[in-house]
Amino acid sequence: MESMKRTTNCGALRKTDAGKTVILNGWVHRKRNHGRVFFINLRDRYGITQITVDTETNASLSSICDELRNEYCIAVEGKVCARPLDMINSSMETGEIEIIASNILILNKSEVLPFQIDEESKASEELRLKYRYLDLRSNAMQERIKLRSKVTFAVREWMTQNGFYEIETPTFIKSTPEGARDYLVPSRLYPGKFYALPQSPQLYKQILMVSGFDKYFQIARCYRDEDSRGDRQPEFTQIDVEMSFVGRDDVLSMTEGMMRHTFKKVMNIDLPLNFKRLTWEEAMELYGSDKPDLRFDMQLKDFTPFVEASTFQAFKDALSSGGTVKALVVKGKADYSRKQIEELEAHAKIYKAKGMAWMKVNSEKALEGGASKFFADNVPQIINSLCAEAGDLILMIADSNRKVVNTSLGAVRTKLGRDLGLSDPNRFEFAWIIDFPMFEYNEEEQKWEAAHHLFTWPQEKYHATMESDPGSVKGDLYDLVLNGYELASGSIRIHDSEMQKRVFKIAGIDPSEAEKKFGFLTEAFKYGAPPHGGIAPGLDRLVMIMAGVTSLKDVIAFPKNSFAVSPMDDCPSEVDQKQLDELRIVIKK
Ligand code: AMO
Repeated sequence: MESMKRTTNCGALRKTDAGKTVILNGWVHRKRNHGRVFFINLRDRYGITQITVDTETNASLSSICDELRNEYCIAVEGKVCARPLDMINSSMETGEIEIIASNILILNKSEVLPFQIDEESKASEELRLKYRYLDLRSNAMQERIKLRSKVTFAVREWMTQNGFYEIETPTFIKSTPEGARDYLVPSRLYPGKFYALPQSPQLYKQILMVSGFDKYFQIARCYRDEDSRGDRQPEFTQIDVEMSFVGRDDVLSMTEGMMRHTFKKVMNIDLPLNFKRLTWEEAMELYGSDKPDLRFDMQLKDFTPFVEASTFQAFKDALSSGGTVKALVVKGKADYSRKQIEELEAHAKIYKAKGMAWMKVNSEKALEGGASKFFADNVPQIINSLCAEAGDLILMIADSNRKVVNTSLGAVRTKLGRDLGLSDPNRFEFAWIIDFPMFEYNEEEQKWEAAHHLFTWPQEKYHATMESDPGSVKGDLYDLVLNGYELASGSIRIHDSEMQKRVFKIAGIDPSEAEKKFGFLTEAFKYGAPPHGGIAPGLDRLVMIMAGVTSLKDVIAFPKNSFAVSPMDDCPSEVDQKQLDELRIVIKK
């Protein structure tokens, strides 16, 4: 091999290199046989270079060329030649040249491939994950993994330049409830005891603030035993950040700076100095979602006054039981068939809507079809108030529960955005969602729960009424949303043991349980804990959105499938009886 060690890579050579003798190492991407001449596209991480083998002038290479198959790993020595003008391939970076081979060495053969590299869409996801090393050879995967590396680097660069220390926190921690289920690691030395894998470094980063580190960040692995979805993996990465002596706006502007730097550096995109801000209530009222896709408008409009003035009894009943009615205008879709509208209604029903009414604006700017007959008295006012135009479709949902109206119509908005391609894939619309409620009422268990996590600082103005009216308390909580995804979440934290106890109490965590689970944190807070706050953008989600894909699996080198399994190494797997015995674990079948 020593003599055939590469002198350059498969993406580097240009016309100016003509005349040089080079050695390339890589994989056979394609081989074409034109009688006495073979063309081999040789590929490595850097690109593809065409190798030309003329077996007439170089007969000794004939048998090796016959032998070569796709994905053989080879070394090629040859001379760089400028291609004749009519042979230049402008779609290849190295398309101005070819290598006239003088020597070829097979470094390693390849079995017949289970799927063609670069034809990823044709192979099932399961097969791609089983042969992940081959899937990762595709140009699309290589580009996305490269993007991820660049993003991670840009983030580290910005954080370090801005005075943050990168500090690692443990991956074996005490099990503490944080929303999802913990992954547990049994202790051999202490049978019956378990380490938990962190759902996030939350408590440790807060303790680092008590230790005076002031500005912390970590590209942190997090583990959550929850159902996988397109934008969730059991094992994922956060850009975890915590800062001392800060208020909400400091954390928001720090995050904006990090995102601006990253988008500029990696994609040469200029993001605005400040991102849009919506309160949680505004987001729910206008878009029916706490992570709206703002690349298209289509806001939910209040339709209550028109129902009050109408003869539409079913909707009036919802109002008389304290409910609300909202409408959504779908531009230019008056031609939607009944079937298409029923599909949208079925989607709304997933989000607990009892039904969805509709009507159309015809070319005379009159309302027709569906529920239009109930609104005949107010046509111009309705059209005016909804800013509707001829050819639009109007969808309406009523319910006694305002939340059901917002979330179900919001879900219809999201579906329409996707179905109608309303979102420009090249736009990145960031927005902050602020002023989230602190507590949510769990109807099933009939108790208040922390909406985000238990360590969020309730906004000052609610301190006096927290216990008497938990539902109205807003926390200093913020989410960063991007193109319809929750990209980051964070809060200003409680730094005072008394306030922490009050929050635990409202969330029904009894003092002895709190002491057992979080005692170390409340203990730490007794020693001059500074006011602090932080945030954690999901790195996988960020890269996924930047790459324009919709599955986290496409931006993680070795992801789990939807069943939390890695088909490549067949994990999780059974272990030896000896290992179980050492851990004193008995498996109940
Ligand atoms: P949270 O649980 O909201 O907050 O997570 C923060 C961000 O992490 C990403 N994320 C995920 N990405 C992939 N797969 C998952 N299963 C997954 N779960 C979360 C999302 C999300 O916005 N400790 C707090 C942060 C803080 O308050 O500082 C936390 O973990 O992008």
